[in-house]
Amino acid sequence: MTDGAIKRLVVVSNRLPVVVERGADGAWDVRQGAGGLVTALAPVLRDRGGLWIGWPGSRDEDIDAATLASVSGQVGYRLVPVSLPSEIVSDYYDGFANATIWPLFHDLPSRSIFRPSYWRAYTAANEHFATAIAAATTEDDWVWVHDYHLMLVPQRLQAAGAPRRCGFFLHIPFPPVDIYLRLPWRFQVLHGLLSHDLIGLQTARDARNFVACVRALVKGVKVTRVGESYSLELGPRRVQVGAFPISIDFNRFATRAAAADVTLEVARLREVLPDNQLILGVDRLDYSKGIPERLLALQDALRRYPELQGNVALYQVVVPSREHVPEYQLLKSEIERLVGEINGEFTQPGWQPVHYVYRSLSMRDLLAFYRMADICLVTSLKDGMNLVSKEYCACSIDEDGVLILSEFAGSAGQLRRGALLVNPHDIEGCADAIHAAFRMPRSQRRQRMRQMRRSIERSDVFWWTESYLAAAIHKRLDAFPTHEYFVPDAPSGRFDWADAYPE
Ligand code: UDP
Ligand code: G6P
Repeated sequence: MTDGAIKRLVVVSNRLPVVVERGADGAWDVRQGAGGLVTALAPVLRDRGGLWIGWPGSRDEDIDAATLASVSGQVGYRLVPVSLPSEIVSDYYDGFANATIWPLFHDLPSRSIFRPSYWRAYTAANEHFATAIAAATTEDDWVWVHDYHLMLVPQRLQAAGAPRRCGFFLHIPFPPVDIYLRLPWRFQVLHGLLSHDLIGLQTARDARNFVACVRALVKGVKVTRVGESYSLELGPRRVQVGAFPISIDFNRFATRAAAADVTLEVARLREVLPDNQLILGVDRLDYSKGIPERLLALQDALRRYPELQGNVALYQVVVPSREHVPEYQLLKSEIERLVGEINGEFTQPGWQPVHYVYRSLSMRDLLAFYRMADICLVTSLKDGMNLVSKEYCACSIDEDGVLILSEFAGSAGQLRRGALLVNPHDIEGCADAIHAAFRMPRSQRRQRMRQMRRSIERSDVFWWTESYLAAAIHKRLDAFPTHEYFVPDAPSGRFDWADAYPE
C-alpha cells in the first residue's frame, strides 16, 4: 500500500455523489449527481471506504438525516451533509463558482462576472465547509479537497484552530496567467490554494499555468522543478504541485457494458433505429462543451459530403445542469434553435439527422448508447479532462468505434494516438473529421480503439488515486507520468489524420 500513513480518507467536494431534493409529492428524491467529479470519485470511496463531505444540493431546507443514513448504507461509505444558508447558495454556487471561476478557468473571461457579493458568499460557504469538516474529522484524517468551489478550505480550517493534512485536486483547467490576473480576488484565491500540502492538476499545462501565476503573484517564492512537477518553498512551508490526469473505473464500465441488460437494450435500439452510423454526443448543458460548434460542424459535413445524408444520425444527449445560471439558459435555447435548423434543412421521410435528448440517462441506457455508437463526438472548447471520451472507449467492447476529440480536452494528450483530434473552433476541420470517421475502415477503427482502451485500462481511476496519495504521503512527485498538451505540427495547423482516409 502506498498510503499506509492514511488512517481514513475524507473526500470533500461541493456536491455529495447524490443530490437529495424534495420531489413534487413532498417526499425526498435521491438521484446521482451529474458530472465527472462524482463518476471518478464514487468508485474510489466504494473501494477504500471513508467519508464524503459535501452539499446535498438542497436549496431550501436541511436534508432529513434518516434519508442520508440510508443512502450512506447503500453506497458503502459515510456521507456527511454540509447545509448552506439559503441566502448564500445562489451567490456562492450559481455566482462565484459557476459565473466567475468556471468561465475564467475555461479561458472564457468575457463570460465571467466579477461581483463582490459573490466573493463574500464564496468565503462564507468555504467557512461553512471548514466548520463541517472540523466537526466530522480528527487530526489523524487525511482530507482531500476537490474542485474550484472550495479553494479556501484549509486556510479556514487553520483559522478555526482545526488544522488538517489537506491535499487539493482541481478537476477543471487552470488558466494562463494573463487570464487569471483579471480575477479581483487573485491573491486571496492563490493563497487559499497554497495552504494545501499538495495541489493536483489535470495536465502538465495546467500545472505550468498555476506555477506561472504563483511566480507572478507571490513574492519570494522559490520554485524547484522536477520533470513536470514543482516544489514551492514559501518561507518554512513547502507545497507540491503536480499533474495527475483523472480517469474512470475502466473495468466496471467495460464489464457493465457487456452485461445482459445493456446487451438487450443495444439489440432493441438496433431494431428501432434506422441503419445509420450513429454519432453520439453526451455532455452536461455547458458552453465549455462546444455543443453549438459541434452542430455547426455536422451541418457543414452534411452540406459538403452529401453521402452522409441518410447515412449518419447524431444522438445528442444534454444533461440538465446549473439551470439557474442565465448563460446556461441561453445555451439551451441556442442548441434547440440549431437542432431545429439542421433537421429543417435535411430531414427526409424515414431519416432525421439530429436526435436531441435533454435529460439524464439511466446507466443502462448511457452504456447502450456508448456501446453501439460508431462515432463519439467530443468538441469541448476547454475541458479539465472529459471523462465521456474515456467512458466511450471503455464501453466500445467490440473495439469498432471512432473517437473525435477536441485538442482542448485534458484527455487529448493521452488519447491522441487513437482519437481524431480536432480544433472545435475549426468548423470545417471538425466536419472533415466526421467524414473521415464515417469512411474509416474497420481495421483502422479497431487499431485506434484498442490503443486507447489499453491506455485507459492501464491508468484507471485507482491508478490515479494511488499516484496522488503516494505523492501526498511520500512526496514522490517525479515518479508519475503525465500527459503533455498536444499541438499539430502540420503546416496547415490541423491534425494530420490522413491515414484515416482509405485510398
Ligand atoms: N453522465 C451523467 N448523466 C448522464 C450522462 C452522463 O452523470 O445522463 C456522466 C458521464 O457518464 C460522465 C460525466 O457525466 O461521467 C461527465 O463527465 P465529463 O468529465 O465528461 O464532464 P463534466 O460534466 O464533468 O464537465
Ligand atoms: C464538473 C465539475 C464538478 C461538478 C460537475 C457537475 O465536473 O468539475 O465539480 O460537480 O461539473 O456540475 P454541478 O454544478 O452540477 O455540480
